[in-house]
Amino acid sequence: MKILVVGSGGREHALAWKLLQSSQVEQVFCLPGNGGTASLNRCKNISLQVDDFEGIGNFALQENISLVVVGPEVPLAKGITDDLQSKGLKVFGPTKAGAQIEASKAWAKSLMQEANIPTANSAVFNRAAPAKSYIKEHGVPIVIKADGLAAGKGVTVATSLNQAVEAVEAIFNGQFGSAGEFVVIEECLTGQEVSVLALTDGLTIRPLLPAQDHKRIGEGDTGENTGGMGAYAPTPIATVNLMERVQKQVLNKTIDALKAQNIDYRGVLYAGLMVTTTGEFKVLEFNCRFGDPETQVILPLLETPLEELMLACTEQRLEEMPPIEWKQGTAATVVVASGGYPGTYEKGKVITGIDEAEATGVTVFNAGTQLKQQLITDGGRVLNVTGVGENFEQALQLAYAGIEKINFEGMYYRRDIGYRVMGNG
Ligand code: AMP
Ligand code: GLY
Repeated sequence: MKILVVGSGGREHALAWKLLQSSQVEQVFCLPGNGGTASLNRCKNISLQVDDFEGIGNFALQENISLVVVGPEVPLAKGITDDLQSKGLKVFGPTKAGAQIEASKAWAKSLMQEANIPTANSAVFNRAAPAKSYIKEHGVPIVIKADGLAAGKGVTVATSLNQAVEAVEAIFNGQFGSAGEFVVIEECLTGQEVSVLALTDGLTIRPLLPAQDHKRIGEGDTGENTGGMGAYAPTPIATVNLMERVQKQVLNKTIDALKAQNIDYRGVLYAGLMVTTTGEFKVLEFNCRFGDPETQVILPLLETPLEELMLACTEQRLEEMPPIEWKQGTAATVVVASGGYPGTYEKGKVITGIDEAEATGVTVFNAGTQLKQQLITDGGRVLNVTGVGENFEQALQLAYAGIEKINFEGMYYRRDIGYRVMGNG
């Protein structure tokens, strides 16, 4: 098989790396890819943009691609799947209609409410004045969300009325473009976040190992939200009992609700949950794709060949597949970012020590990197240093020991990934 992976982050490096472990996979193309995918054996970067559907379609047909795997949400929300499917290609990733589950928070909320899926109480507004009245009526803390895709920057957890009002104004001021036509205002939930990524063919849905991300830039979960600064899987908060309830109350209900709207959803459904200390949970958001960096800890533990699962999804025969098999143990990843991220940062810094790090037993997934004469930084989140061990201590120790070998000017990483599991939270 030849497989095309669309995207350029750590998630896509991990997808390409995992797919290439199967003897059935002859070649992976990564589009546009990064410095890490450029360095993988039997993997080639293709310099096309992820929204150049015509170019991608032509390339895939010309190369006889068996499966297109779409990493990021933006091309999915723009309809890459519809476009490529109409050319006869097999695509792992939902259609434009299905991607609304991430691309419109208001749409996702109404789907959850209609299907009776546990989620925070909320209201949707298209004008500032009634939104502000609602905030005053409900008080703080309160959560303000731009409806559309905002690259992880559209959510404010407001602790003062001023902050809440300013967030509403920023959304309606056009700061988020068409993503800010509507605002979703939501009850503030507390607890621990769990990412449940599930594979679906639109009829059957099966969860992968539950993971926990660390969204804030600062240690102890402080400071600004980011795309994710580190993750581990499986997370002990998601007990077998919790996962059974998630299957019934979230995953099955969501697939049924999508089917009822004639939406044929084949790919990953990612439910972001808030879990309270008593084991209650509510859905914070849905994503229509693999999580980043969750994928970088889930895939190293996956035993079942990934392309078999993905093909079963695109060919609607997931039900026939044997149970998904996993390695024992734990995976942890620590994101190494450019100094200044998630604000402004410089690019083009030379990265050293990747081979030395991998010699210690970690896998270094590249995110914002480029391979020129040397490997250089090319984004905010630069590397994901991933350790797999028998337990959390081992996995985290490995990841942090690996990072010691790596260097680039201004590099930053959180030193407390996994602190909750390690009993410090
Ligand atoms: P979302 O894009 O909806 O997942 O929001 C991004 C982040 O904002 C989440 O990962 C949470 O950390 C936080 N968040 C979102 N909704 C809520 C909520 N209702 N209560 C508390 N925190 C939230
Ligand atoms: N790690 C969060 C996300 O992928 O949205």
